[in-house]
Amino acid sequence: MWSSRWLFVLAAAGSAVGLGNIWKFPYIAGENGGGAFVLVYLACVALVGVPIMLAEVLIGREGRQSPINTMRFLTQQHHRRPTWVLIGWMGVLAGFLILSYYAVIAGWAIFYILRMADGTFDGVTGEYANQAFNEFLANPWQMVFWHTLFMGVTVFIVGRGVIRGLESAIRWFMPLLFVLLLVLLGYGVTSGGFAQGVDFMFRFEWGSVTGEAFLVAMGQAFFTLSVGMGAIMAYGAYVPSSASITGTVVTIAALDTVVAVAAGLAIFPIVFANGLEPGQGPGLMFVTIPLAFGNLPLGALFGAIFFLLVSFAAITSAISITEPALAYLVEEYNAKRSRVAITLCSFCWLLGIGTVLSFNEWSDVHVVGDLTIFAFVDYVSQNIMLPLGGLFIVLFAAYALPKAVVQSQLRLSNRAQELIWRTLAGVVAPLGVLSVFLVTIVGFDRLKDWFS
Ligand code: TRP
Repeated sequence: MWSSRWLFVLAAAGSAVGLGNIWKFPYIAGENGGGAFVLVYLACVALVGVPIMLAEVLIGREGRQSPINTMRFLTQQHHRRPTWVLIGWMGVLAGFLILSYYAVIAGWAIFYILRMADGTFDGVTGEYANQAFNEFLANPWQMVFWHTLFMGVTVFIVGRGVIRGLESAIRWFMPLLFVLLLVLLGYGVTSGGFAQGVDFMFRFEWGSVTGEAFLVAMGQAFFTLSVGMGAIMAYGAYVPSSASITGTVVTIAALDTVVAVAAGLAIFPIVFANGLEPGQGPGLMFVTIPLAFGNLPLGALFGAIFFLLVSFAAITSAISITEPALAYLVEEYNAKRSRVAITLCSFCWLLGIGTVLSFNEWSDVHVVGDLTIFAFVDYVSQNIMLPLGGLFIVLFAAYALPKAVVQSQLRLSNRAQELIWRTLAGVVAPLGVLSVFLVTIVGFDRLKDWFS
């Protein structure tokens, strides 16, 4: 059990804020044309993500076990179909896929701590920062090394179960990360590309939106909030009964969104001021941030600190990704946490090699269409498995759990509150997920034609 509500907030915020906010959000917003994408993403966070997060925490706290066993317990207790338990299993699989590439990208961030510190980027141009990154990508051995290091640290931390030891670190590092983002933002404002950056992020042109962009925006909302696979459910199992779920969840979602938007507002002005390409893909953060710090006083120092904080944010997220599987195996087989962590993460590490090679030796190997192993694993887990998992989690909370359970967990004390929950969890969130799937399958252009 978390020792206080505050510790749960820290752990959940540590899970939510990670590479998804600082690395992924800007690069996929860039790839999907900004504006409308960002709007869909924000709508998904508020209308779909928050209700699902509420559902995860309340289910977790009601069951008080790993997600798989929580679902098993609740379906038995309330005489529901055992098929609901598949939510737990799919979550374990999704987490496995996500961690495999998450560790690779986090490895890049660790490498960039050293690279910033040794002055590689002092006074660089955009072209040079770009070239330096591409050279790094071309070398699988180096990438495997950092990937292994990150996985090792994750195993060490989850194996010992020292989340509590991280408490003070999260308390300091997260605000510091935010301050450095503000420094970058200040740089962006004065760089000459700020207006263009803001315009790119917030101007919506429906003409440029595709069905695919809807799906990616929704997937990102799930990814960044850590919902849809049971990670938050697993953390919810350790929340004291006295804590209020609603306030906590809204705080976490707001915090997470602020960090992502700040990262976007810091990165895009740098992109435009230096004539870089907003849609350049996963390297976006690794080109723009060194470029900015490289041209700031004490840039090597602050740049190194920045990537240190990003690596740290990635660790606190990675820990939560392993929790559903880890908690299940420990419960089920009475196994030692450390042994389970080593086994689990070794398989994950192996799959991660596929991601490493996607950027060099195997860049021509496509699983389906033009998706490399990295792109495929990322696409399936984020855009399909998380929304699907989230859909069933929220349906379970809204329709399969007895009303009284939800009422007492969320402390719904009047008709109005109950109505809000029913509307958001029972209607808006599920329909949101379904309509995005529909838009993707039918295609946005075809839908527009139908209505025009
Ligand atoms: N939310 C984290 C990020 O933005 C990643 C993450 C942690 C996650 N736990 C998760 C994503 C569970 C999906 C599911 O970086």
